[in-house]
Amino acid sequence: MDQNKIAYWVKRWDDNNTGWHRSEAHINLVQYFDKLTNGKANVAVYFPMCGKTLDMMWVYEQGHSVVGVDIAEKSVKEFFAENRVEYEVTESKTNKLYQSKDGKIKIYIADIFKFTSDICGKFESVWDRAAMNALDAEDRKRYRECTKGLLAPDFSILLALMQHDEPTGPPYNIPTEEVMEAFSDMCDVTVLTVREDIGLSLGPKKMKETTLLLRPKK
Ligand SMILES: C[S@@+](CC[C@H](N)C(=O)[O-])C[C@H]1O[C@@H](n2cnc3c(N)ncnc32)[C@H](O)[C@@H]1O
Repeated sequence: MDQNKIAYWVKRWDDNNTGWHRSEAHINLVQYFDKLTNGKANVAVYFPMCGKTLDMMWVYEQGHSVVGVDIAEKSVKEFFAENRVEYEVTESKTNKLYQSKDGKIKIYIADIFKFTSDICGKFESVWDRAAMNALDAEDRKRYRECTKGLLAPDFSILLALMQHDEPTGPPYNIPTEEVMEAFSDMCDVTVLTVREDIGLSLGPKKMKETTLLLRPKK
């Protein structure tokens, strides 16, 4: 990602300008979690562009593992501090890793576009909330390719997509059809639910949220 865009997000964290952050686990993650894990135990759930979302804590508390990636180190420090999870930090040439002492929460400080399966393998479960929405149209294409490269054969992606009528972002408006088309080569896409007004003040006056399930194409 270009340095200006990275600087934009780092500054938002530095300024505590993080209106997207929620104080509880996302209702649709909880509601559709079985579809994300396919009922399996001890799954590693991937959280692209994770911020300090409490969704990670909720998944961890269900006994699963968490792998998050964010470019802003402050978000990761705050996640561990606010949730009182003890952690250790290791650093390699390409990224810095914060992980809980039990190894079940791993959060990489890395650019999503450089986060490949060499770093942490492939994933069966991906939760994207406000990640794709944070990217402009050009970066969304790259994001989709990166995400596809991280998927294990029997994957499930739960995608909570913010939608609105305004031309600017973030959050950018992403029509459901865009996702259906972009993933049509490898996914069957199902609309699970639409919430008409999510009541989040993030710029657009009114936002709806469509939650999608993406599974391997049959
Ligand atoms: C709108 S927030 C959503 C955070 C989280 N998914 C949530 O629901 O609270 C977008 C996040 O993406 C991170 N981000 C932006 N560009 C990134 C990039 N290229 N690589 C990794 N993280 C990035 C930002 O730092 C920010 O935390």
